[in-house]
Amino acid sequence: MAAYTKKEQIYEGKAKKLFRTEDPDKTIIEYKDSFTAFNGEKRAEMSGKGRLNNLISSEIFGFLAKRGVPLHFIERIDELSQLAVMVKILPLEVVVRNITTGSLCKRLGVGEGIKLPRPLIEFYYKDDALGDPLVTEDHALLFGWATEDDLSSMKRITLRVNDILKALFEPLGIVLVDFKLEFGKNSAGELLLADEISPDTCRFWDASTGDRLDKDRFRKDLGDVLGAYEEIWRRLSGRNKELS
Ligand code: TMP
Ligand code: ASP
Repeated sequence: MAAYTKKEQIYEGKAKKLFRTEDPDKTIIEYKDSFTAFNGEKRAEMSGKGRLNNLISSEIFGFLAKRGVPLHFIERIDELSQLAVMVKILPLEVVVRNITTGSLCKRLGVGEGIKLPRPLIEFYYKDDALGDPLVTEDHALLFGWATEDDLSSMKRITLRVNDILKALFEPLGIVLVDFKLEFGKNSAGELLLADEISPDTCRFWDASTGDRLDKDRFRKDLGDVLGAYEEIWRRLSGRNKELS
């Protein structure tokens, strides 16, 4: 892979910055040390967070790439950054849930920690000012946020990612409770899984203790946030890579 250099910044989000490279179809994504929750209302800086999310996300994307999932991720460049295909992100967050918790329980009044008979997929409209509202597929179609094909591909890829990641995390003693994915289109119009997959975007519960090993530690002030991220990285990087 040719080396790409970081040119001017094109975008800064809550957790990452994007930079142009000499190739208009490739971007360098740099992970920040910032934590935000509740649509940016709660914020903190924690040194080392960007590194851990970059390492974890790159490892997971590498695992998915080997299994043929279409991805924006190309390779990890260094401790803080990744090379990725430049995509235009669709304004939808796709959440998949295996166990009830979080906003699902708040919104519908259902109990916490119930194992669902099959994965539940939800779409949220990406708009911080509106608080990323839950939307139906019809909303997405009628307001032009995605096509029928996009929605069916997103659902198919999301369920496949869920199966692959459950199989990755189970032997590590980690329950994959739920997670959020984002998708984008490359310059050829192909749909690719994008953004990141990390303890910021997943709920990971320790299988034996039930300890929260994800951003809920920050959202709910449970303490030792980075210790939990470190633990996810320790188990992921230390796994037997011949098995998975
Ligand atoms: P929720 O229960 O708060 O809706 O979260 C569902 C999953 O989506 C959980 O794994 C955390 C993740 N998530 C994000 O990645 N970004 C967000 O903005 C929100 C609200 C949730
Ligand atoms: N990602 C959202 C924020 O940064 C909300 C969350 O993850 O809880 O505000």
